[in-house]
Amino acid sequence: MRRNLARVLVASGTASYFGRVIKYIGSKRKLVSRIVALAQAIPGARTALDLFTGTTRVAQGLKQAGFHVTANDLATYSEVLATAYIATDARRVDLDALDAHLVELNALDGERGYFTRTFCEEARYVQPKNGMRVDAIRARIAAMAVDDTMRSILLTALLEATDRVDSTTGLQMSYLKAWSTRSHRELRLRRPLLLAGAGRAIRADARVTVRQPDGYDIAYLDPPYNQHSYFNNYHVWETLVRGDTPPAYGVARKREDCRTTKSAFNRRLEADGALAEVLGALRARHVILSFSDEGFLSLARLREMLAARFGEVGGIAIPSKRYVGAKIGIHDLRGVLVGEVGHLENTEWLFVAGPDAMEIARAGTAPLAEVA
Ligand SMILES: C[S@@+](CC[C@H](N)C(=O)[O-])C[C@H]1O[C@@H](n2cnc3c(N)ncnc32)[C@H](O)[C@@H]1O
Repeated sequence: MRRNLARVLVASGTASYFGRVIKYIGSKRKLVSRIVALAQAIPGARTALDLFTGTTRVAQGLKQAGFHVTANDLATYSEVLATAYIATDARRVDLDALDAHLVELNALDGERGYFTRTFCEEARYVQPKNGMRVDAIRARIAAMAVDDTMRSILLTALLEATDRVDSTTGLQMSYLKAWSTRSHRELRLRRPLLLAGAGRAIRADARVTVRQPDGYDIAYLDPPYNQHSYFNNYHVWETLVRGDTPPAYGVARKREDCRTTKSAFNRRLEADGALAEVLGALRARHVILSFSDEGFLSLARLREMLAARFGEVGGIAIPSKRYVGAKIGIHDLRGVLVGEVGHLENTEWLFVAGPDAMEIARAGTAPLAEVA
């Protein structure tokens, strides 16, 4: 085993990355440029795996930088986003046909269905007028004679449009007592900002994907770092893209399978073993790992794991504001403040592991050109 060579570098400014914003806790939207700079500092790297891709922000950044990217996640909504943004080569999409579909979908009248009843009447995710349009558009997309690529692009447009008129603070676990300002707007689908180039989308447990024979120059790992389940927090998107009608429970009207769909990374006692398993099986020369200083695993333990498998380790610390819910405070189900807000800052860590990792980490702290 090589000696742990981790050193700490601190980066404050992060360049923003263009692309549409969707609300996702832990999205690395603001760190994409820095992660891409790290990847570009790895000599000869051409292929990348984004193993916990979520919104696909990082995968999009890597694809734009010229990497062949494989984007993996457990969630169906993430697979849909990855199919649209990563697996689809924008140059091969019939944009006239896409625009015609968007015009047709935007012109549909609303119809009251499962989405409206469950998320707009039994809950307050979006206003009923927009929920009815979601129901009508979702049904029409299901009936269209289009291939999987086009369907994923249209579902991405619907997911993003719904997110723009929701009434949440970013989580689909409870909804605002008074309708948010944006929820009064009319739901409107826009053409997703598709990217040129080839890529792959996979929906699978990270521990399964890393056991496949494929190798990568770089693997980017952004696993959940605490007990909060993404499947639960974004259950409305899961239902929206699946187009199913599961029994729902609780104030948030979560899908019944939220009770049983759990990730090992959300369990304090399993997270260590799950990450060790992933790192052990990963076929990559370099790893870039995101983690928070508030996670289940200590920074020392992360460094130890990375060093054991990849040798040299470098680390970049990025001070970060906590999510908006933390600022608002802890409320009970009636909206009454019942808990005090803790500290409002945490530190996001970016570890790089593999040959010359410290040199690469140093390149990652250099000032970045604004991409937008
Ligand atoms: C911190 S988020 C990633 C955010 C992403 N980097 C972005 O910028 O949007 C963690 C992701 O891991 C996914 N996930 C949780 N457990 C997983 C598992 N066992 N295998 C694969 N993905 C998993 C969640 O669905 C979630 O999208």
